[in-house]
Amino acid sequence: MMPVTACLAPTPEGIAQAADLLRKGGLVAFPTETVYGLGGDARSDHAVARIFAAKGRPHFNPLIVHLPDAAAARGLAVFDARADALAAAFWPGPLTLVLPLRAGSGLSGLVTAGLPTVALRVPAHPVAQALLQLFGGPLAAPSANPSGRVSPTRAAHVTEGLGGRIEAVIDGGACAVGVESTIVGLDGAARLLRPGGVPVEALETALGQPLLLREAGKITAPGQLAAHYAPGAPVRLDAIAARPNEVWIGFGPQSAGAALTLSGTGDLAEAAARLFHTLREADRLAGPGGAIAVAPIPERGLGRAINDRLRRAAAPRA
Ligand code: TXA
Ligand code: MG
Repeated sequence: MMPVTACLAPTPEGIAQAADLLRKGGLVAFPTETVYGLGGDARSDHAVARIFAAKGRPHFNPLIVHLPDAAAARGLAVFDARADALAAAFWPGPLTLVLPLRAGSGLSGLVTAGLPTVALRVPAHPVAQALLQLFGGPLAAPSANPSGRVSPTRAAHVTEGLGGRIEAVIDGGACAVGVESTIVGLDGAARLLRPGGVPVEALETALGQPLLLREAGKITAPGQLAAHYAPGAPVRLDAIAARPNEVWIGFGPQSAGAALTLSGTGDLAEAAARLFHTLREADRLAGPGGAIAVAPIPERGLGRAINDRLRRAAAPRA
């Protein structure tokens, strides 16, 4: 059955309605500080199966489980000293930890795709926090977009991609961080699985040691698939000027002539917050047969997450 997707206000009433829908096995998209998540009860096979179906997401890709606080997270996974340190430093916030799954966690096996580990995140957004507390259980929530497409940072992006396939979206406005959480694997040596909203430099400082990079060729996250975050138009990177059929996305004062900009002053936090919306805008402006070109972005701080998403947006499509 195709539900009509309701748009809920980020008020106590709207959040109560969302929690109700979730308790009945419904799917509700909600704002987090990174991107909008597509939430469903992480203990329900039915709800989790519906998340995969709504996104058209391959079942071998596990989902992130969202919790209101670290205490709730400890009930689902085994924390060691490194996990304690990162949780204390960055939760609530844009960090996901992959940890050994606890026996009897109660999570649907679909959430972890049968792996012995689970990805956990405690989001900081007040609407996400209120929803998690009221719902009172773990919420599985991948980004609320069709698999492989650009992630949503506004409620309208969610309905564009998933309207008619989910029960509701809570409209909490634009997401402040704009790129997904950083994923760190701690089921072995500390490893960066996906760059994101917490810069690697900050994680390494808190850990007191460098992070390993993920093993080449080993895909544990769909964000690691080469082609992902893809707009409709082809994307060219490190562009210092636009070609005739291209919409140029600038960064910093050097690209003042660009049609769109991630940040006129070269601010990486602003660029991350604007990234996905700007890619959508560029796609619209490019139109059929058009293309997108993006100015160079420095590979430091949030620039790592931005370049990671841009490289995938530009990767050859299957
Ligand atoms: O910022 C975010 O993380 C957003 C918001 C909604 O919280 N969520 C998000 O979820 O980006 P998603 O499903 O689009 O990306 C989650 C990533 C996937 O690439 C998945 O493969 C990976 O986390 N993941 C989940 N469980 C894992 C596990 N046990 N081991 C390794 N990677 C895992
Ligand atoms: Mg995603």
